[in-house]
Amino acid sequence: MSELENIAKQMVAKGKGILAADESTGTMTKRLSSVNVESTSENRLKFRETLFSSEGMKNNIGGVILYDETIKQKTSSGKSIPDLIKSFGSIPGIKVDTGAKKLAGSPEEKITEGLDGLRERLAEYYKLGARFTKWRAVYNISEKYPSELAIKSNAHALARYAALVQETKMVPIVEPEVLMDGEHDITKCYEVTSKVLKECFRELKLHKVNLKGTILKPNMVLPGNKSKNKSNTAEIAKITLKCLKESVPSDVPGIAFLSGGQTEIEATENLNEINKINNTNFLMSFSYGRALQQSALKNWAKNIKDINSTQKIFNHRSKMNGLSTSAKWTIDLEKQSTA
Ligand code: 13P
Repeated sequence: MSELENIAKQMVAKGKGILAADESTGTMTKRLSSVNVESTSENRLKFRETLFSSEGMKNNIGGVILYDETIKQKTSSGKSIPDLIKSFGSIPGIKVDTGAKKLAGSPEEKITEGLDGLRERLAEYYKLGARFTKWRAVYNISEKYPSELAIKSNAHALARYAALVQETKMVPIVEPEVLMDGEHDITKCYEVTSKVLKECFRELKLHKVNLKGTILKPNMVLPGNKSKNKSNTAEIAKITLKCLKESVPSDVPGIAFLSGGQTEIEATENLNEINKINNTNFLMSFSYGRALQQSALKNWAKNIKDINSTQKIFNHRSKMNGLSTSAKWTIDLEKQSTA
């Protein structure tokens, strides 16, 4: 097995998934002000260090996605953040896109930027210890959108990114996120996600990206958050699996879903259900931001010094998601832990 394939498999090994702690300073400021904590670089580090030094990291977190600020920070005892993550048996990764900007030609949509100077930045991140990367494209669903232009231009950028990352001997996480916002039903989300994924893999192939050393980070197929037609977890799992089977080449070793605004329990339950019916060779795992951190963040804000209680909450969420990667999660396990 090549080095890249080996890293990709470790990131989403059974029982494990990825912690997306790569919020930009702007996003992290929003998250911290929602719990009335000032967004200083020290506070951002304190919260993240609390998570990265939790026991749950060893058992259930195969990789951590960092932001540029964090990968360069040091713990209170002087250890670099990538070294801290490695000491807990997990792999450090880095978000390398520079954000989604207005798409010229269709200004209500977004194109993700960050290709200029990327080769040089990747070399620097590799030296700092990163072994995988992330690039996120976003697509909105409405009557007119996503346009052909948004689908094609974002797929092209994702493929150029992934090719450069593999050249630097790191694993690219390819994240095309079809957003949950809107009134659309689940069928519409299925149609759009299928189209987006097919175009991404067409471009990845054209750019000669080794799919065996690539992780896909897609949205689950869900009804819009303002849809009148709700779907249950069995329907979500079935249509998500159908979509991925039809659109993702079987060489891809792992699929790590984003949570995208689902609650913590919804994200766990839906992944568990997907794994119950998973009849593919894809390792189906998680790469959650909010759905791994929300409760921990709320607790941390109440008493920043009480590291133990925050770590306990994070350990629990990581364990529940770890169980869902082998369809071993049940709602009773949630109740027991809070009893
Ligand atoms: P959420 O799980 O909060 O959607 O974040 C995942 C992520 O990394 C978005 O790019």
